[in-house]
Order: sequence, then structure tokens, then C-alpha cells
Amino acid sequence: MNRDIVLLRTVEVAAIASYKYIGKKDKDLVDQAAVEAFEVMLKNEKGFKLKVVNGEGELDQAPMLFVGQILGDLEDPSVMTYDVSVDPVEGTHPAAYNFAGSIATIAFSKENTMLQLPEMYMEKLFVSTDFIDQIDLSKGIISCIEEMQKHANRKDLKCIILDKPRHKEVIEKMNEMGIIVRLIQDGDVLAAIDVVNGDADFVYGIGGAPEGSLMASLAISSGCKMQSKLIRYEEVWPNEQETKLRKDKEKAWLDKYNLDFDSILDDFDLVADKSARFFAAGLTAGGSLKPVDYKDGKFYVNAFMSSHGMVRNIDSVYDIEKVNVLKPEIKFLFDKYKR
Ligand code: FBP
Repeated sequence: MNRDIVLLRTVEVAAIASYKYIGKKDKDLVDQAAVEAFEVMLKNEKGFKLKVVNGEGELDQAPMLFVGQILGDLEDPSVMTYDVSVDPVEGTHPAAYNFAGSIATIAFSKENTMLQLPEMYMEKLFVSTDFIDQIDLSKGIISCIEEMQKHANRKDLKCIILDKPRHKEVIEKMNEMGIIVRLIQDGDVLAAIDVVNGDADFVYGIGGAPEGSLMASLAISSGCKMQSKLIRYEEVWPNEQETKLRKDKEKAWLDKYNLDFDSILDDFDLVADKSARFFAAGLTAGGSLKPVDYKDGKFYVNAFMSSHGMVRNIDSVYDIEKVNVLKPEIKFLFDKYKR
């Protein structure tokens, strides 16, 4: 089957599988359901292979979608292999509590073009197509905002930012500068989709590094731009017990991945492929993707896809009766995860 359709269906079916546990206050259950949907949908798909570059952790921590796992057509050596970054539930907390900001997502690019990113923090600036030439994160976020305001000839640009203590000062500064700030609790990947969909001009803030790979794929495939920089755990959590332990861990990670805390990483440093593609489906409400819903034997899913500067927002209806006839593996998931 067409590769894009397979990946689109994968995020849609992951959203449907997770529906059973949305709002049930258990992050692991909602994540497991979506992870299983990803595996089932991708495991034996013919015509291509997918290598997990950023996934659910290393093999010893994650039984499925672990870094290095190969999915797809393992029998035919002639098929192309692609790198993938996956996050079956990006925003496990909001999914578990039915708060805003949770999606199922995957991005792919040509083999050996995706950078593996450690479980660290990352400062990320993701801007709309209007501002791709205005940003230089090495000069700091305030300078980037000033340049964007100058270019737009207006002050009231819209920014989405995680509402965390580490962003208190920059949020105050942005308010002083006339920026319209939208605060979110979780989900900076969905926030970046909101920028692509025209609901904001930029997303800024310190969030997860692995999510950076998904956001970079989104930037490349939609014609937007992202810059980023790895951040010390200590900078985010100066007084935690964990902080001391993290120092050594971070040093080991940086050595292993050949990264550092000083470099500004462009989206192409994270995903070196112009033809990268990005897919997502909404789990909970809050951003420009509608939440997955169920009514009278039908699941309603809102998915998103971007490639080569083209962006698609797709509403799908899965009629359980009909899907059950079509695809046994989807039937299996629907039966297992029905509410
Ligand atoms: P999870 O899917 O791991 O729960 O991540 C959700 C998220 O909100 C990301 O979107 C964001 O990049 C990161 O967590 C922020 O981390 P923290 O919650 O530690 O501030």
C-alpha cells in the first residue's frame, strides 16, 4: 500500500486505540494502546522498511518502537529503508487527563538522515513560513522576535509557549514587546502544527529534545523553519536531586551522540532530507487538530500530514462494521480497545 497512506492510517488508528484510555488518569495505559497500534499497523507492511531513530527508548527500556527497531517489509532486501521518529502519544499527561495538547505522531526521512536525540531538554524556536529568514537563535530569542516584528511591520505576533516556571521571564518580556502569548501546559509538537495551520506565528521554549526531531520534520515538510539548542537539565531544574545524576548522564549522552550544548541546530541538522514527511492525529482537544471521537459505531479522527510544502488536514470516519471487513489487524485493535 502507498507509504503515506499507511503512515496516515497508523496515526489515525493509534488515536482510535488510545480513545479507550483518554481521561482514565493512567499515562501508561494510553501510551501502550497507541504503541501497540503503531506496531500492528507497521509491523508487516510491504514495500518499505522503517528504522526507529527516535522512539520509545532504548531496547532495554521499551519492548516496542525502541530505538533501532526495524519495522515493515523484513523479507524483501530490495525495498527502501526510511528513518522514523515516533511518538505514539506526544503529551501522555494531557491524554491521560483529557487535557489539551495530545496527539499521535510519526515523521520519516531517507535512511541515515535523522539525528538520534537524547532524552534531554532542548530550546526550540519554530516559525511560520513568513519568518524563515528572520531568525538566528545564536543572537537570542528577543533579537529573533524583534527581527520578526520588524519584518511583519507589527508588534502583535502570536506566540505559543509552554507555561512553565523556566519561561516566566521570557513570557513577561514578550508581553512587554506586544506579543500575543498563548500558554499551553503540554504538547509543543501540536503547537508547531498550530503555527503551520496559521493559528500562531511561532512556538518558542524549552521542551523535550526527541520532540525536536518531529518538529524539524514538520518544519522541513511544511516550509516553516526551526532552530534549536540542547539545554542542561540543571538549567531547568537547578535544585532537584536528579540534577546531580543527570550531569554525568548528559555528558555520556553528548559523547555518544556527538552533540554539545553550544551549537545552534538548524532543522536540517536534525533531519537532513528535504523530502521528510510528517503525520499526526488529534487525541485531545486544544489545538488546531480536533480530538478523536466515537459515536454510533463510528470513530471520527482528525489527522494532519505535510510534505514538500503541502499541508493537509484530513477528517476521517472509521465505520467499525466496514473497517472490520476490510482489515483484520485494525479489527483486532478496535475489538481490543473498544470502550
Ligand atoms: P510527553 O509526551 O513525554 O508527556 O511530553 C509532553 C511534553 O509536554 C512535550 O510536548 C514537551 O516538549 C515536554 O513534555 C516538556 O517537558 P516538561 O514537562 O518536562 O516540561
